Amino acid sequence: MFFLFYFILAVLIVFLSIICIFAFLFEIYSALTLSVPFVPVPKKVVRKIVAQFRMMPGDVLFDLGCGEGRVLREAVAEYPGIQAVGVEMGLLPYFLARVYAIGKPNLRILRENMYQSDISQATHIYLYLFPEVLEEILYKIHRECRPGTLVFSCDFSSKTYNPERVVELSDTGRGRKLFVYRV
Ligand SMILES: C[S@@+](CC[C@H](N)C(=O)[O-])C[C@H]1O[C@@H](n2cnc3c(N)ncnc32)[C@H](O)[C@@H]1O
Repeated sequence: MFFLFYFILAVLIVFLSIICIFAFLFEIYSALTLSVPFVPVPKKVVRKIVAQFRMMPGDVLFDLGCGEGRVLREAVAEYPGIQAVGVEMGLLPYFLARVYAIGKPNLRILRENMYQSDISQATHIYLYLFPEVLEEILYKIHRECRPGTLVFSCDFSSKTYNPERVVELSDTGRGRKLFVYRV
């Protein structure tokens, strides 16, 4: 009886270890193949960013490359009538974002490549991406979103599109500026 118990326990441990190793390897693969790493925006500027969204009930906010979703969570707390959608490819940030979104019916997290996401319903889009990626995503946004859609890019600005305004967020570290574009 004891032998059977330890045998089942050993099989379970081996099984869970294999899953963990695969998840770890997959996460490394994702980190290496994604063009922007999982670096969340500093917590100290999240409220300031969300205050700039100035959203109304019924508005739809996307965070393309949402990380663990901190900006979206602050947004649904600040503007309860909105719909928020996070798009994330990295396994670890996606998993964290899904867990943190539990109990928030107006916050959805999708495991998708943002280049293939349907963003046509967005009224507001938040981005924290490297300049080359930002440029490509802004091009997609301008092709697929309705005129008037607002785009907020933290720290990085576009060479192609002119911001409507630039907001100072902080004097030090990451999260210094927010560039606001309108489609
Ligand atoms: C710098 S982090 C920003 C996280 C979050 N937006 C924030 O401000 O805290 C960029 C995120 O984009 C994700 N990412 C990079 N390329 C992506 C792609 N093609 N599709 C979806 N997510 C992507 C990364 O996994 C990473 O979590």
